[in-house]
Amino acid sequence: MLLFKTLNDLQKHITLLKQKGSTIGFVPTMGALHQGHLSLIQKAKAYKDVVVCSIFVNPTQFDDAKDLEKYPRTLGRDIELLEQINTDILFAPSVHEVYPKGLDTSLSLDFGQLDKVLEGAFRLGHFDGMAQVVKRLLDMVTPDRLYMGQKDYQQFTIVRSMLEQINLDIELIVCPIKREQDGLAMSSRNTRLNVKEREQATLLSELLFYTKDNIKNQSIRALKKYALKRLSQEPNFKVDYFEIVDGKTLQEIDSIENVDSAIACTAVFVGEIRLIDNIILK
Ligand code: PAJ
Repeated sequence: MLLFKTLNDLQKHITLLKQKGSTIGFVPTMGALHQGHLSLIQKAKAYKDVVVCSIFVNPTQFDDAKDLEKYPRTLGRDIELLEQINTDILFAPSVHEVYPKGLDTSLSLDFGQLDKVLEGAFRLGHFDGMAQVVKRLLDMVTPDRLYMGQKDYQQFTIVRSMLEQINLDIELIVCPIKREQDGLAMSSRNTRLNVKEREQATLLSELLFYTKDNIKNQSIRALKKYALKRLSQEPNFKVDYFEIVDGKTLQEIDSIENVDSAIACTAVFVGEIRLIDNIILK
């Protein structure tokens, strides 16, 4: 695997690859890699792309300074994992490389309601920072395909809107959620849960699966009420939301009959660690 830390070195190599006719698949991450991240790289390899994985803990998308400070950083282990699955290129730039002095990387796009609801309502500025870094990284890596996870459903929905708005000719491939054996969605933040919290955290996926299993025989109102009750009964939990929304507009729905796609999604603080998860209902 080649490791590049500067844009200059990365771009020289990518130019050569493109001259040889290779397509570039890009998997942006913030590191502390797990099988969920690796599944995106494997998907890119299945498309025969030369795979560029980036690791960059983007300061502009953190709404909570403590979360940024405590975000797990495990570069040595990440490199081992990436090498095990024959990743072609790791791009691990510094903050100065991504946001050099004098370069205006701000975006002024209108995502309508997409960035106002769910995560957007609880993490102010998060999606502006996320879109800013994804756009900047796309400019740096110049991929043909971009691979993102369904785990961050609202994130890829906003990125899709961004690609459409700025007319970027990049195909977005969304990959399914990788889960632990007990159902917990894999996340870099899971390593920060203590043993008790790790056990409790399975309730999120349990309730999402329950919702999917019962969506045809119970009302959305009843399913949300049940999930919120179970979550609120758990000591040490603080629930931000448990919602059932249109899979395209992310607006709340009261029946899945009249929409093309629907998801259930939730965000919960388990102790100090905020976890998100979702499931496709339709
Ligand atoms: P990060 O949380 O590191 O996630 C990187 C990518 O891995 C995202 O597309 C995410 O949806 C995907 N992913 C995370 N957990 C997954 C799982 N359990 N199964 C499948 N895919 C999973 O998301 C970010 O970083 C950042 O916001 C980023 C896009 C890199 C911009 O900074």
